[in-house]
Amino acid sequence: MKQILENHVAFITGGGSGLGAAAARRLAADGAIIAINDLDIQAAQKVADEVGGLAYAFDVTDSQAFTAAVDDCVAKLGRLDIMINNAGIAPQDTSSKTELMMENMGKRMSGNIESMAPMNYLRDLSDENWDRMIRVHLYGAFYGCKAALTHMQPQRSGRIINISSVIGLYPAAGAPHYSVAKAGIISLTKAVAAEVAPLGINVNAICPGYIKTPLLTPFSEAMMAAVTMRIGKGRLGQPEELAEMVRFLCGPESEYCTGDVFAVSGGYTG
Ligand SMILES: NC(=O)c1ccc[n+]([C@@H]2O[C@H](COP(=O)([O-])OP(=O)(O)OC[C@H]3O[C@@H](n4cnc5c(N)ncnc54)[C@H](O)[C@@H]3O)[C@@H](O)[C@H]2O)c1
Repeated sequence: MKQILENHVAFITGGGSGLGAAAARRLAADGAIIAINDLDIQAAQKVADEVGGLAYAFDVTDSQAFTAAVDDCVAKLGRLDIMINNAGIAPQDTSSKTELMMENMGKRMSGNIESMAPMNYLRDLSDENWDRMIRVHLYGAFYGCKAALTHMQPQRSGRIINISSVIGLYPAAGAPHYSVAKAGIISLTKAVAAEVAPLGINVNAICPGYIKTPLLTPFSEAMMAAVTMRIGKGRLGQPEELAEMVRFLCGPESEYCTGDVFAVSGGYTG
């Protein structure tokens, strides 16, 4: 029997780990042919070998390298149907400030706002950290959309999925750069979707909640406990649960979805 994504070529950035790797496995299970990008070539190659696809090592902030890899993928596999702009990095660990944050929460709840200590999340953020965060997420998604449209427009079909975050919906005090980058991805998604909808190309954003991947390993137990308290389901998500949304947005079931934003958050309340 024909598989639903048979002959569909999917390019996934940051696919050597976590959500990207889970998406690769899920799409491959439905017949898609996969190309995996990652900064870490061994990780990319491992997932590519597992799903029988191609691996590309480059930094998504490098526009030329990005375009060259996507062009090479199309030259080898004949087409491009799905682009998943997923590569990302975590905001720096603010666990050392968790205790102070808890104390401040207590003070806020008792109406004692004047005695709250400055957290200095923004003031401690270096120009370099700000720049790298914006570049990896927002420039990475921009370059990915451009490279994909080069091949999808002549085909008059395609699906682009940009991985944002619930932090793009509910900005977090401890991660202003990540919040801005992820909110920017939502705007980019809607702007591009509006442009290319008449060409048969759907562009959507997924906002994962807190999903158990290596991205979260730097964060302390106390910090994760504080986060989990704000998740209705009371637990982190699994990468496979996120991959089901990716699969939906790549298949015929989501034909009418474009410029749309899908959270998979277990009831995260921000
Ligand atoms: N895990 C979560 O809780 C969560 C929540 C919301 C959003 N997200 C987003 O999901 C995406 C995937 O995250 P994950 O949880 O799977 O993390 P992960 O760390 O498991 O995987 C991210 C992958 O991206 C790669 N990468 C990083 N910078 C890159 C670059 N410049 N060029 C190419 N590859 C690069 C890394 O090497 C890594 O393999 C990210 O955009 C992240 O911001 C994750």
